[in-house]
Amino acid sequence: MKTAGKLVVLGSINADHILNLESFPQPGETVTGSQYQVAFGGKGANQAVAAGRSGADIAFIACTGDDDTGERVRNQLQTDNIDIAPVSVVAGESTGVALIFVNQEGENVIGIHAGANAALSLARIEAQRDLIAGADALLMQLESPVESVLAAARIAHENHTIVALNPAPARLLSDDLLALVDIITPNETEAEKLTGIRVENDSDAARAAQALHAKGIKTVIITLGSRGVWASVKGEGRRVAGFKVKAVDTIAAGDTFNGALMTALLEKRALDDAIRFAHAAAAIAVTRKGAQPSVPWRKEIDEFLRQQG
Ligand code: RIB
Repeated sequence: MKTAGKLVVLGSINADHILNLESFPQPGETVTGSQYQVAFGGKGANQAVAAGRSGADIAFIACTGDDDTGERVRNQLQTDNIDIAPVSVVAGESTGVALIFVNQEGENVIGIHAGANAALSLARIEAQRDLIAGADALLMQLESPVESVLAAARIAHENHTIVALNPAPARLLSDDLLALVDIITPNETEAEKLTGIRVENDSDAARAAQALHAKGIKTVIITLGSRGVWASVKGEGRRVAGFKVKAVDTIAAGDTFNGALMTALLEKRALDDAIRFAHAAAAIAVTRKGAQPSVPWRKEIDEFLRQQG
């Protein structure tokens, strides 16, 4: 039995250690930062939080360590309207960590220690079979073991649960996995990794989208940073512009876009309208620092859109 509008997010949980500095250090160089912050992150958790705060009915499949960070993250996720029953606590493991540098332009570079995220095993996916099968949509990224992502996609596909994949961080993926995906949301780097096509303008984006359609994916949304997205459905593509804001920190902008997009799609909004809603959520996120601390609530997104007219 499907639960109408139910979203399941599967993915990573990290504690982000964020250092703001003027410019990224070169090899062999030491740079003193201007600000240091520890905040909750991880692509899976960020997308779950974006979905929960923007109004989705959402459950999250993930792993934390049995450490103090894991306990605090789980408590926080619950306050973000997320069902955390499918979050496993892995004995003897530490919660995932991301080390992030942010430069003056708001760009970031990230190094990850997977920790408990690596324990999101096939057995743990199988234990969530009914949840995935009963959902309307499953949203995943690539900070979890890829065989588990594939297994979850198979369960979803067999049970007519929409499979949405944000293929981040960039990596090559098998045709088997791509053929199970209904909606894919790469950025330019990830689109190039998956298709071999360098995305520098709309016509490149259209070609990359066609290559992904050819793998069996119906809806391709290539995010283009400040230029918005290239949205292509069964080969019919167009650019949907985003909102102009002053970015202070782009951490989790893509995650916020993905979570909010799924909320809007599950509310049965038309694709362009759902993209506009997701653009608004991401625009707010880039004006704030950190991953989850930057993710807006529904009333903030609605208010932002009202102000845009
Ligand atoms: O997408 C941003 C996220 O990537 C950060 O929160 C960090 O944890 C890494 O997973």
